[in-house]
Amino acid sequence: MKKIAIYPGSFDPITNGHIDIIERGLKIFDKIIIGVLKNPEKNYFFSIEERVRIIKEIFKDREEIEVEPFQGLLVDFVKRKKAKVVIRGLRAISDFEYEFQMALMNRKLNPEIETLFMMPSIEYSFLSSRLVKEVFKLGGCIKNLVPAVVEKELKRKIRENST
Ligand code: PNS
Repeated sequence: MKKIAIYPGSFDPITNGHIDIIERGLKIFDKIIIGVLKNPEKNYFFSIEERVRIIKEIFKDREEIEVEPFQGLLVDFVKRKKAKVVIRGLRAISDFEYEFQMALMNRKLNPEIETLFMMPSIEYSFLSSRLVKEVFKLGGCIKNLVPAVVEKELKRKIRENST
């Protein structure tokens, strides 16, 4: 039986911190399904199609990594994928309260599903998708913080938004 975990998030955009967690998760699981949240009530920088496409491009040669959009409750997506574990990254204490609430709510919704928290490498402990976008829009350097394809897509999107 293959050990499968779900790694959910907005990934707007995916960063090297997320990738670090995925690689760490693969030391424990045979397969990781990256669940990309589609929330019509939220204003994303990249559309759901773009976020999924970018992540697929990054992991195109990796059979053990799947990418799928999902809408609605995370626990329903996890069940549909026949998984039992959700991986979430914890960068700092500040992440803890929200993550704790989510994990316990998910447990209430489906007691069969466990949340596994993993710490990224210290060099990514300050990194967030929000900061990446802000720094990039203001002309700062995001080298080593996101894969090259993300930097390229950020450039394209900013050009597209300004025309
Ligand atoms: O990358 P993010 O934005 O921190 O990811 C948050 C995510 C996608 C894990 C969370 O918003 C989620 O699971 N949303 C799906 C809706 C849901 O199940 N809500 C109840 C969770 S307690």
